[in-house]
Amino acid sequence: MLNPIYRTIYSLGLIPVVEIDDSSRAEVLARTLIEAGLPLVEITLRTPAALQAIQSIRRAYPNITLGAGTILTLDQARQAASAGADFLVSPGLPQDAVEWALSEGIPFLPGAVTPHEILQGLRLGIEVFKFFPAETMGGIAAIKAVSDPFPSVRFIPTGGIQTDNLSSYLTHERVLAVGGSWLVKRQWIKNGRFDQITAQVKAAARVVQSLSRPALT
Ligand code: 3PG
Repeated sequence: MLNPIYRTIYSLGLIPVVEIDDSSRAEVLARTLIEAGLPLVEITLRTPAALQAIQSIRRAYPNITLGAGTILTLDQARQAASAGADFLVSPGLPQDAVEWALSEGIPFLPGAVTPHEILQGLRLGIEVFKFFPAETMGGIAAIKAVSDPFPSVRFIPTGGIQTDNLSSYLTHERVLAVGGSWLVKRQWIKNGRFDQITAQVKAAARVVQSLSRPALT
């Protein structure tokens, strides 16, 4: 049974992957996304401001679907969850962090691109994998090829995805959603260009809505 968080992610289709330098801009970022119709964000732990940003967003918007990305260690997983993250994301598969999150009932989206990595994740109880860096690894053709032996697995590709190539991913039955930094560029937050975030999110959401996507089973 797919976790309800993944059902929400599927229905929105897009995960903005965010690097934020100033946590005082987190609340307006979240408001911008919500008003653009995308009540979902992944804050990556790649900047010192990330945990504080997660806390501010959670405090201001209790119902937003909030992910913490670039989780590399168990400590980071614990910190992100206590800051208010609903789901955790990693470019790889940090086993102790994954085991801890699943034991707490927190969805963990680990990166996996090879059959070996997918098998490792399946053994831990993972149902959905991040496929990263998607374009470099061969795009949707690579996802199709690697998923054949694993009929239950679904992917959220990220890495090189933009509004003009997201359709090839989202129309495939194994793809739950796509993610990427193109929706919220780091510079836009820095420069206060929230209007550009609104425009980019709305343009991508229009494409998602125009697609006939496979139903979630
Ligand atoms: C991620 O962590 O998912 C990636 O940094 C997203 O890749 P992109 O910057 O190419 O969208």
